[in-house]
Amino acid sequence: MLENLDAIPCVALRGIRKGFCGPQGRTEILRDLSFSLSPGDSVGISGISGAGKSTFLNILAALEKPDSGEVFWDGEPVHTWPSRVLARRRATQIGFVFQNCHLVPELDLLENLLLPCRIFGRSALAEGRKRAEILLERLGLSSRHSSLPMGLSGGERQRVALARAFMNRPRLIVADEPTGNLDESTGEQVMRLLENIRQEEQTALLLVTHHLPFSRRLRHQYHLHQGVLEPL
Ligand SMILES: Nc1ncnc2c1ncn2[C@@H]1O[C@H](COP(=O)(O)OP(=O)(O)OP(=O)(O)O)[C@@H](O)[C@H]1O
Ligand SMILES: [Mg+2]
Repeated sequence: MLENLDAIPCVALRGIRKGFCGPQGRTEILRDLSFSLSPGDSVGISGISGAGKSTFLNILAALEKPDSGEVFWDGEPVHTWPSRVLARRRATQIGFVFQNCHLVPELDLLENLLLPCRIFGRSALAEGRKRAEILLERLGLSSRHSSLPMGLSGGERQRVALARAFMNRPRLIVADEPTGNLDESTGEQVMRLLENIRQEEQTALLLVTHHLPFSRRLRHQYHLHQGVLEPL
């Protein structure tokens, strides 16, 4: 457990190192990186392509293991949990928004939103249906329940990805370039919706973005450079 903390961070990373082997040998991507985020707080992270932003997010969400260092959720070290426990905790604790949405093309919008509830069984599905309807309405998509992702614009798809990330009322939203594929005004619309919902639901936000004006709207900003996070 993390000790001596007044407010336990919803996520914390300590001394994270991660490297990959390539044709030119091994490259260290993250070098003794530490980070923590308090409940309800918000952080924007920038960095050049290849700096390791997605690797950092994957390690933070325990989707990838660091070479060394520790990851804590609510003060508890995630590496001690069996994989089933980890999957359940991730599904309730962290909502992910990806740059390319990761919607399931064969499922309509409602079914895409219900995916994070399926892990919790039938009663969760009934609850989830109500929650999905509220979120779709909140994001201006209530008339599109039965549309397939293919029939949506990029901005609409990204709004569905936002709704899905919020489905299980996570304590933290992790968004990896959620506006990267959108034009400026659609990106602004998606960003505003993200900010509004997270404020209403008191969710912490970790946003990776190349667009500095978006990052500056959050409480803290860091630049990932040479394997560590530098305050901006
Ligand atoms: N599984 C892997 N195997 C080998 N190399 C990898 C792997 N994952 C990431 N890398 C390398 O690590 C580096 C950092 O990748 P990462 O995707 O974290 O960067 P990024 O900052 O998210 O970049 P972008 O802004 O383009 O999304 C890159 O050089 C990438 O090629
Ligand atoms: Mg990336």
